[in-house]
Amino acid sequence: MKKVYIETYGCQMNVADTEIVFSILGAEGYERTEKMDEADVILANTCSVRDNAEQRIHGRIEQFNFQRKSRPGVVVGILGCMAERLKDTLLESGKVDIVAGPDAYRSLPRLVAAASQGHPQIDVLLSREETYGDIAPVRVDSNGVSAFISIMRGCNNVCSYCVVPYTRGAERSRDPRSIVREACACSQQGYKEITLLGQNVDSYRVGEMDFAGLLALVAESVPSLRIRFSTSNPQDISDAVLETMASHPNICRHIHLPVQSGSDRMLEKMRRRYTREGYLERVAKIRSLMPDCAITTDVIAGFCTETEEDHRATLSLFEAVGFDAAFMFQYSERPGTLAAKKYPDDVPPEVKTRRLEEIIALQNRLSLESNRRDVGKTFRVLVEGPSKRGGGQLCGRNGQNKMCVWPDTLHRSGDYVDVVVEDCSQATLLCRLA
Ligand code: SAH
Ligand code: SF4
Ligand code: F3S
Repeated sequence: MKKVYIETYGCQMNVADTEIVFSILGAEGYERTEKMDEADVILANTCSVRDNAEQRIHGRIEQFNFQRKSRPGVVVGILGCMAERLKDTLLESGKVDIVAGPDAYRSLPRLVAAASQGHPQIDVLLSREETYGDIAPVRVDSNGVSAFISIMRGCNNVCSYCVVPYTRGAERSRDPRSIVREACACSQQGYKEITLLGQNVDSYRVGEMDFAGLLALVAESVPSLRIRFSTSNPQDISDAVLETMASHPNICRHIHLPVQSGSDRMLEKMRRRYTREGYLERVAKIRSLMPDCAITTDVIAGFCTETEEDHRATLSLFEAVGFDAAFMFQYSERPGTLAAKKYPDDVPPEVKTRRLEEIIALQNRLSLESNRRDVGKTFRVLVEGPSKRGGGQLCGRNGQNKMCVWPDTLHRSGDYVDVVVEDCSQATLLCRLA
């Protein structure tokens, strides 16, 4: 049997796509290996969202090329967003044998076969229909408790900083019946939690079925599973989605709602279709329907022409919302995007770094405050396994997606356990069994 090794970078969509790739290659007789030096086929599923993500992969390509040179016959392939963005220039480097974009994975067996005969292969065609809806993912790296289910692909927004619409193509939604089938399969395989994935889940639509409808359908089809979803877009998240969450106890009380900036001038330049006020209104609506709902976000520091005043607006928005957690980035210009064409990347690197550090310092305090508000509360958590802290402690997340740890020798991964929060750090709730 030929062995395939895959490294996965980037977002959860890529994790889900790697599971699709394992399924497609597995059906052709390829066996998975975790050791690069025994693989016949070495693949990297890549990310282009920021320049440093791509630089890391260029470094890995050197490593793969070393394998390729020292073990003749080994095939190296670049998959995913960077394959789609860089296309033939990756092949021209002479360091890789296959370049396959996110919609080309069904062709992989053919591409690998041809490449192993010494013919470099490229397929970067984007599709308007491909959802891989009929392919059962092979969840090789999952913890056996929590599974990703992709519900749509691509993105029709054109946020001016973002490369994703170019690397993943137009938005398309997956047939709800195949989503429910996969959710039921996960439940039968012993998974306890599923996360519905899309770049913009709120624009899911197949006929009459919108995201609120899908969410209710999935939640009711697998009542014993916890349901999460990501990512929501402030401009699209509807009252119907919030009401569906509120009326289904198995939908987790957590919304990841990327804000990107607190300044209306920046939001307009970013081509986000909401204002600061609109964002705060959505937050207020979420909290009025679900007072215990966690809200997390993404933010970009130092976007084109950002002033100190714009930056302070971001800080004050963070303060006003009191996010439970955030992913925080410096702006990285992506070639081909609207912002790269239209606006100067004019915030000096040291200013971007300083602003990012200020946002991080503020969020660290907000995360700690959020966790302190939970001390004394009881939560139902899904056990993921032994805690990294060791000492007979287990860890797992509550519905709000906060990491909990507690001493426990009775339970094991996949169990639901009630815990009481006794103390906290900025990243973790320290608990005991209730
Ligand atoms: N579809 C999701 C986000 C996908 S990218 C959404 O719309 O929310 C994940 C995050 O990366 C974005 O939310 C943004 O904060 C960040 N990001 C995207 N492009 C970036 C860029 N050019 N520079 C820095 N951060 C970026
Ligand atoms: Fe990028 Fe915007 Fe689409 Fe998210 S919604 S993937 S940030 S273009
Ligand atoms: Fe990266 Fe592509 Fe995801 S650019 S963030 S892997 S959609």
